[in-house]
Amino acid sequence: MAVIRSVIRGVGAHLPKRIMTNDDLAKLVDTTDDWITERTGIKSRHIAADGELTSDLGIAAARQALVRAGIDPVEIDLVICATATPDRTFPATAVKIQAALGVTKGAAFDVQAVCSGFIYALTTAEALLRTGQFHRALVIGAETFSRILDWTDRGTCVLFGDGAGAVVLEAQPQTGGREDRGILATRIRSDGRYEDLLYVDGGPGSTKTVGHLRMNGREVFRHAVQKISGVIEETLVLSGYAASEIDLFVPHQANARILEGIARKLGVDRDKIMMTLKRHGNTSAASIPLALNQAFEEHRVKEGNLVLMEAMGGGFTWGAVLARW
Ligand code: UT7
Repeated sequence: MAVIRSVIRGVGAHLPKRIMTNDDLAKLVDTTDDWITERTGIKSRHIAADGELTSDLGIAAARQALVRAGIDPVEIDLVICATATPDRTFPATAVKIQAALGVTKGAAFDVQAVCSGFIYALTTAEALLRTGQFHRALVIGAETFSRILDWTDRGTCVLFGDGAGAVVLEAQPQTGGREDRGILATRIRSDGRYEDLLYVDGGPGSTKTVGHLRMNGREVFRHAVQKISGVIEETLVLSGYAASEIDLFVPHQANARILEGIARKLGVDRDKIMMTLKRHGNTSAASIPLALNQAFEEHRVKEGNLVLMEAMGGGFTWGAVLARW
């Protein structure tokens, strides 16, 4: 049966120049390189310069993805930016990116699902492309979490970093068979009962301030492996693939111990896990497209490969996407 699939045509990324190491952080808060490395796997992260906005990172990532896709911005008719750190409360960061790229057709909007944002944005784009209303989408994950960190809280400020990644999706007719390329299955979930375990303590409608990130790390950790493994299993059942068929596992980069735990539970080999958190930290919605970009640049993903992406974040929100590159 013929179906419309969203095929990944190009990927790009951008990281701010400034690198902050664990030793740099040890000068700010009571922590050590050993603690951060052992508990998280993170060694360094990139931090946006003053005046360097989420949209600036997103625009650079999107430009690279478009060049690699060989697609002119005028051919794009959907721009979705996943971010929890928009330039402004409104309008959406996506419209700023749209304008900077010279995209004048279609629609642009932000998706807010924190660390799961890129999975939510891919799911939304795929569904919209399937309707036939849009043909080529730019899906971006861009964050400047350094702006919402409490730099006196060692439990959170050591974990996050800034960056952006983007993919270009194109609607293509496919046969509906196992050789199909593009997004094959998606699953998104949320459960607002866990809102208080990971949140920002401010906002325009409550405190009229931006606020700072607050997290009960131990509790988030406790939920992560179970919730993510569950949604991955649902996605695999939906698509008819087995975990053993996955060529590359591209998880949200929160903690090396979480990623290894999930891979172990699924039976995915360690060498199939894309791990970038050592140099990027947790970049929230940007972490999956940043990791996809690194996989592309290191030739770890090629046409025909089965790629599994997953994330979990504040809300809680969580989800998974299975795609053939
Ligand atoms: O992307 C969104 C989703 N987020 C996540 O998935 C994060 C999930 N959580 C985690 O990754 C881990 O819980 C953390 C890395 C945040 C923390 O690791 P943990 O092994 O759960 O440590 P903990 O919070 O249980 O803290 C253990 C100890 C505490 O000291 P006491 O109470 O045992 O004396 C903390 O105060 O480590 C202390 N601690 C630190 N020590 C040195 C907390 N942060 C630091 C630090 N440096 N930066």
